This record gives sequence, structure tokens and C-alpha cells, in this order.
Amino acid sequence: MLKKCFISSVVLLLLLSNIYAQQNKTNYDESKVPNYVLPDPLIASDGEVISTTDEWIEKRRPEIVELFENEVYGKAPGFPENIEFKLSSIDTTALNGKAIRKEIVLLIRNNNKELKLNLLIYLPKNGKQKHPLFLGLNFYGNQTVCDDDEITITKNWVGNNKKFGITNNKASESTRGVRANRWQVEYLLSRGYGLATMYYGDIDPDFDDGFQNGIHPLFYKEGQNKPKANEWGSIAAWAWGLSRVMDYLVTDSSIDYKKVIVMGHSRLGKTSLWAGALDQRFAIVISNNSGCGGAALSRRRFGETVQRINNSFPHWFCENFKKYNNNEDSLPVDQHMLIALAAPRPVYVASAEEDRWADPHGEFLSAKNAEPVYKLFGEEGLLVDKMPEVNHPVGNFIGYHIRTGEHGVTKYDWEQYLNFADRYLYSQKD
Ligand code: GCU
Repeated sequence: MLKKCFISSVVLLLLLSNIYAQQNKTNYDESKVPNYVLPDPLIASDGEVISTTDEWIEKRRPEIVELFENEVYGKAPGFPENIEFKLSSIDTTALNGKAIRKEIVLLIRNNNKELKLNLLIYLPKNGKQKHPLFLGLNFYGNQTVCDDDEITITKNWVGNNKKFGITNNKASESTRGVRANRWQVEYLLSRGYGLATMYYGDIDPDFDDGFQNGIHPLFYKEGQNKPKANEWGSIAAWAWGLSRVMDYLVTDSSIDYKKVIVMGHSRLGKTSLWAGALDQRFAIVISNNSGCGGAALSRRRFGETVQRINNSFPHWFCENFKKYNNNEDSLPVDQHMLIALAAPRPVYVASAEEDRWADPHGEFLSAKNAEPVYKLFGEEGLLVDKMPEVNHPVGNFIGYHIRTGEHGVTKYDWEQYLNFADRYLYSQKD
């Protein structure tokens, strides 16, 4: 009897571990993508079919925003009680006289607590009074985006990276310009655009500390020590930070604040999509290789899945998102609806051929399935039904490309973003 019991427990354990292993196995086989039905962006929760832009703006859009807030990213607070902007440095002869470089400190105050955010801005010196601008968060500190000895090195916690000489979670001189190839500052300037960037760890350091550091504690109600199940995780916090940067940009007379493009890569691409969805002051929204929880459809379960991302990065999304681990079909939204929240502003989704973890096809399909909302506004969308060849950008108002190579941001990506921005920001007389 005891022996039988032992054998059946072992069998059960083996079976369970097999199921677990299956669930955790990364699927890279298109033929194994399960059948799924996407929620219709144009059918409201009460069944009403959305057929006008007014109905979208007044009813369905706010409903979708709320679903993403409650179930995916978590709801962020509004404005802090107080925000102060201090110019901490300016050089009008930066980069051998080609640029103006400014550093601005954003002092955020709430509930008698304070957080400092350091913004770096480069503007072209081309005689124009106001400049269009790309805004994006960076991974290792402002000093990494350009080979310029004058940029303040972040003192905050940064992820260790042997290649960049970062140990003990501190950035040093060795990190200057290590990400210059990803940011292409001089190229952007030569095309007439500025760059504004901030270290994402200034807003919320990217590790799971139970939300004790960064911006979250400034907003806890009395007795609260972590966000509620439907309140902001780190992605929502980073997106909130981008909106605070926008609060500054609208006050800076050297910036054309109606031409600010929010752009992000990978986890920060998830962030730029969410920031662009919530804050309609961003003129164009760009997602570079953002993958799961960004542009890629969750229901495809190709590459990274909801369960995998929640296990590896439990602090990125809100607690409620964990309900959808291995349960994607019950999500009331999917990521095509996030892209649709950019409408009618131009949105661009970019993939990389070797970045299968981020599911390039799923990123394309998200962009494709956002089209009905753009069509409501009279815009066409991708203009193609199937994924384009590599290095063949497509689309009108919804841009898409898949380039050769790996996960990363390259000059090719920037070329497409600049062409796209030129097309929409300068098509009408300004
Ligand atoms: C991991 C993570 C991705 C994320 C990426 C990044 O690979 O699984 O979801 O996009 O990190 O941000 O670099």
C-alpha cells in the first residue's frame, strides 16, 4: 500500500514537472502558435460597436486605457504636488561647436519627499529658434549616450555590466559614450533634431526592491508601503517620468514642444508605448524591439511570454498582470490596442530579424490589428497585409520595419525614425 502510494506520488510529480517544463519552454515555432481571438478595439465592453471618432475618443479609448491601467501596467498618480526645473549646466559650443548641451534637474516633491531627475538635452545649432526633439530614457546613465566629458555621471544605482566596467552598481568615467552607437546624437543633430534623455533608474531603479526606492514612495498614502494590485509597476513609473519631462519641455522656448517624439528600446520601448498612450502631447510614438508587454501580441505566446516576463521582472507590471500567466486568453486587452491608443498620431514599430525573443511577427501583427482605429480617423496604416522583407520599411501613419541583425538600436533604425518624423512633422506648413 505504502509502496503504491509512493509510486503514484512520484508519477504525479513527474507529470507536474513535465507540464511545468512544457509551459516554460520558449516557443520559436510559428506552427505551434496557438489559435487565439483578439479583443476587438472597436467593440466596447457593453457590446456597442464604435463607428465614429467621437465614440472612440469619448468612450472606447478611456475604457481601453483603464483596462491597461488596471490589468497590465498599473495606474500611476497624476501631477506631483510640486515640480521645479533647474538649469544645472549649459554649453553653447558642445560637440566641437555643433550643439547646445543643457542639463536640467527636475525636482519632484510630494508628501514631504523629494526625487531628483537629471535631464540631458542636445540641440542642433542650425539657426532655428525652436527644435523638434526625440525623447527617450537610457539604460546606464546620460553619460553613456555620447562621447562628451562634460555630461554628469549618474550617482544612482545602475545594473552591473562588465563590458562597460560597471561593478558594485556604480557608473564611472569608463561608461562615457559606451552607448553612443545606440543614440547617434551627431546624426540626429545633422538631421535637425535634438535629443532629450534621462536615466530610467533616476525614476525607478530597475530591480525588485518591493518599491521602496525611486518615485513610488513619494505617493504612498498613510500606512501604504507598496502599490496596490492595480497601481503602477516600474514601466508605468518610467512612463510617468517621461510625462514629467514633457512638463519641462513645454516650458523651454528652444524646443518645439508640438514636435516631441517619444522613443524607447526594449523595456523602454514598452515604456514609450505606454507613455505615448497616456500622454497625447507626444506627437509621434516609437517602439524599438519592445517585445512582450510592448508591441508583441501576448496571445501568441511566441518567444517571451506573460509568465516568463512576470517571473523574471516581477516589478515591471502591476500585480494584477500576474493573473494572466499562462492565461493570456482571458486578458481583456492585447497589445494591438496599446498601439491603437497612439491614434491618430503616427506610431512606429520596429523589429530585428534575430530578436526572436521579442516576437517580430507578433510585433507586426499588433501594428496590423491597430489599423481599424486608424481607419476610423481616415488614415491607412501599414499598407501591407504580410510582414515586409527585411530592411523594407512600410506604412502610412503606422510605420513598421524589420531590419537584419540583433536586438538593439542601430543607425538604420534611426534613419527610418527620422524619415518618418520628417514626413509627418513637416508635411504640413508650420
Ligand atoms: C529582457 C526581457 C525583455 C526586455 C529586455 C530589455 O530580455 O525579457 O522583455 O525587453 O530584457 O529590456 O532589454
